[in-house]
Amino acid sequence: MTSAPEPCVLLIFGATGDLARRKLMPALFRLHVKGLLPPGFAILGASRRPFSHEQFRAFMREACTTFGASPPSDAQWAGFAARLYYEAGHFTDQTLFQRLNMSLREIDHQHDTRGNRIFYLATLPSSYPLLVHQLQDAEMINKVDDRPFTRLVVEKPFGRDLASAQALNEEIAGVFREDQVYRIDHYLGKETVQNILVFRFANAIFEPLWNRAHIDHVQITAAETIGIEGRGAYYEETGVLRDMVQNHLLQILSLIAMEPPLSFHADAIRDKKTEVFRALRPFYNAQEVLASTVRGQYGPEPGGGLKAYREEPGVDAASPVPTYVALRVFVDNWRWQGIPFYIRTGKGLRQSSTEVVIQFRQIPFCLFGQEQVCSRIEPNRLVLRIQPFEGISLGFGIKAPGQETQVDYARMRFSYGARYDGEMPLAYERLLVDTMRGYAALFARRDSVEEAWRFVTPILDAWAQNPPTDFPNYSAGSEGPAAADGLIRADGRSWHPLDPPTPTA
Ligand code: BG6
Repeated sequence: MTSAPEPCVLLIFGATGDLARRKLMPALFRLHVKGLLPPGFAILGASRRPFSHEQFRAFMREACTTFGASPPSDAQWAGFAARLYYEAGHFTDQTLFQRLNMSLREIDHQHDTRGNRIFYLATLPSSYPLLVHQLQDAEMINKVDDRPFTRLVVEKPFGRDLASAQALNEEIAGVFREDQVYRIDHYLGKETVQNILVFRFANAIFEPLWNRAHIDHVQITAAETIGIEGRGAYYEETGVLRDMVQNHLLQILSLIAMEPPLSFHADAIRDKKTEVFRALRPFYNAQEVLASTVRGQYGPEPGGGLKAYREEPGVDAASPVPTYVALRVFVDNWRWQGIPFYIRTGKGLRQSSTEVVIQFRQIPFCLFGQEQVCSRIEPNRLVLRIQPFEGISLGFGIKAPGQETQVDYARMRFSYGARYDGEMPLAYERLLVDTMRGYAALFARRDSVEEAWRFVTPILDAWAQNPPTDFPNYSAGSEGPAAADGLIRADGRSWHPLDPPTPTA
């Protein structure tokens, strides 16, 4: 299923940018320290800044110190720095690619990387088409076979609607085979997201219940206390639906809803996920969209703290861009017919918490007679906590001690932190290693990305046709707009409380 990471050079375009500094380098450095990189491995950074190799190494040491778990020691850093190289230039300049080619050959020689290449596009998406064509023109791609291999890693946002995603996929498909393309969704690299499949398919007791006969509804929440952290220009172009739902949360939904795959091979899993995307009930008109979605934008936090979204640098003072969304989604297939999946995500909320709640049906009949006992029996709830305090809990009814029959609600809990020592691997660690071993299960395939856009695009269109009139409609530090409660309450249900999670909750 998965093999060892192979020798290769990782060529990062946009190597001095935010993503490389905050996520890629700290993850690569940790992999180096843990000895999880292949012995034949090096990194070549390409960007506009006129750095020497040494300046690039110093810049990255600072990045790993700032964004890594702990500052690198001199010895650790020396070993890692010996694997770091840099080439400065403009992506429009063909000579940059000739120089890169030369550097790559030298690195092959020094590090025994055998001509294998991973090209990582950590740039603005608008540069993707240019970059893939430059790589092609410089004859840096082996599309014929995998000896040596060339792979392309692409960061989100992957398009901004269905048409642009299709166009981008076409550009890439003209240059790379689909099995050479790794579309990163860092949520798929999170341990607890990967655990969804293990939990479902390594246990005999849950899967028989995992359907419309036993499940009342599913809630997927990704609440963040942070605002947009200086990314005003990006967020104005994106908004919450493109930033979180089209990718991360629909990916989680597909893992929860998918049928058992034939095997753990990448395409076996991705086939089943794509079926879920295809089964998402489409919205046919704006009325349907507005009845099933609630958008929000945060205002200032009362008493100080976060300022309003509209006051962020790079944000329009009358911006209609949503920072919160709640939506009701249906998966139209045999297993899930009629079962709502409620999704909510937002910035500037009271609590940071990402979780999936599977709420089972109410018991069919209450044996305990008295109204006050029966009305207090809660349905079983399975909570898959993705972050923080990763773990799983299952709630069930018990008899409270005493002479009377009183039903109480208890929880069985599993916590990764209590069970395993040490830090959880970073999402990027797992994903980077998978690109080195050519295992694509945790990457989004072309068809699923397009299907997700097919579902999301009508929502974007309906919102654009019906601009919000009430923004900002929630205060930073709150639970989000009141209308989001209305959305789920109208169905006789309520959101799982956004309570502060604890290490054992
Ligand atoms: C990113 C979004 O993809 O995911 C951010 O662009 C968001 O806006 C982030 O904050 C959340 O990721 P995580 O791993 O912190 O849950």
